[in-house]
Amino acid sequence: MIKIVTIIGARPQIIKAAALSRAIREKFSDRIVEFIVHTGQHYDRNMSQVFIDELGIPEPDINLNVGSASHGVQTAKMIEGIEKVLQEYKPDFLILYGDTNSTLAGAVAASKIHIPVIHVEAGLRSFNKKMPEEINRIVCDHASTLLFSPTKTGYNNLVREGFNPANKTPFSIDHPGIFHCGDVMYDNSLFFSEIAEEKSEVLKRNDLSKDKFLLGTIHRDNNTDDPDRLKAIFKGILKIANESHMDIVLPLHPRTSKKMEQNLTDSLNERISKKVNIKIIEPVSFLDMIALEKNAKMILTDSGGVQKEAYFFQKPCIIMRAQTEWVEIVENKTAIVSDADEKSIYDAWKYFRTSKGILFPPIFGDGHAAEFICKTILNARKN
Ligand code: UD1
Ligand code: UDP
Repeated sequence: MIKIVTIIGARPQIIKAAALSRAIREKFSDRIVEFIVHTGQHYDRNMSQVFIDELGIPEPDINLNVGSASHGVQTAKMIEGIEKVLQEYKPDFLILYGDTNSTLAGAVAASKIHIPVIHVEAGLRSFNKKMPEEINRIVCDHASTLLFSPTKTGYNNLVREGFNPANKTPFSIDHPGIFHCGDVMYDNSLFFSEIAEEKSEVLKRNDLSKDKFLLGTIHRDNNTDDPDRLKAIFKGILKIANESHMDIVLPLHPRTSKKMEQNLTDSLNERISKKVNIKIIEPVSFLDMIALEKNAKMILTDSGGVQKEAYFFQKPCIIMRAQTEWVEIVENKTAIVSDADEKSIYDAWKYFRTSKGILFPPIFGDGHAAEFICKTILNARKN
């Protein structure tokens, strides 16, 4: 039996971990046993527990309850807690997802005590080291033993950084294995797509109709914490709301709700709240989010995961960041990088409003990435 410890902490990690937990439960439970550690990075019910309940992930075995703090304090508390768990549980592998501080903490804690790290969503790069996530990704990749990249671009980034594509076993931190395997989030979208249509009442609850609304999310720190960028984003959204008369629904991350009060003027906040077709709502559950994505006309976001889900559900996407790690969706012309620029956001909306026949060729795998990862872990252990 292979013992793995899985680290979750932030919303997107809980979602990504669901795909692997499901694969283990359904196909590999006789060979892989999973021990789940929640760092407590996200803790509001609608940022954490709702996903554990809805996606059928086992309850975490331990919650470190680290909570919010500066990067240093938050990451340090996590490293301390994770190290203790690893020393007690002595797993064969530690599995990490994505690029959050929970990912970084796991990578540092495990690699220092020689527990092999598996990084799911390896190789992604924005080439902007001012993003905390870029530092987290680079450190995690270079401390990993098995690296699973969802895209060919991610895989190529790893090769460019010196990872050997020969993939000769036995693997170790000094001889890591790199794999292009598709995206576990795509596995989830396929699995939950119909369930979401059946179960979610989010459209009814918010008086929304198919193809008659736009969906937006904003939470990236350089957007929320920079008053000029946050202002430009909301001015762009207001301009679209004025002209389109469509609803624009914004399930807002708690970070953004807090920063709107601090970083937008009273008059801009008032214009937003008085605009009847801008609907700011609390963060929604995964099934509700999928239902919103599937039924929206277009998606505006600075989220990594939501950009991809826009592609999975064949929706044009306006990326309100200066660059993206998911370059394929921009190359395929299904997404436009508008940055946090009022005019570019509006122009991108105008472009997609009239464009027809956009194609979404498959670039995120075949929906079985989690199964591939489990099989590769089992093979790596044999050798
Ligand atoms: C983190 C990740 C980011 C990821 C995002 C997913 C890092 C450095 N950033 O950003 O990569 O895209 O999660 O959502 O790890 N807060 C609450 N309730 C919660 C959680 C957070 O109110 O349950 C508020 C707190 O004011 C907190 C702020 O949100 O200070 C930011 O939370 P934090 O986890 O530090 O970063 P995120 O912006 O969520
Ligand atoms: N998501 C959700 N409810 C929301 C907003 C996002 O379920 O209100 C899901 C979304 O569908 C995707 C993931 O959260 O699967 C993306 O996480 P987030 O945007 O917080 O982080 P990022 O992907 O940018 O790291």
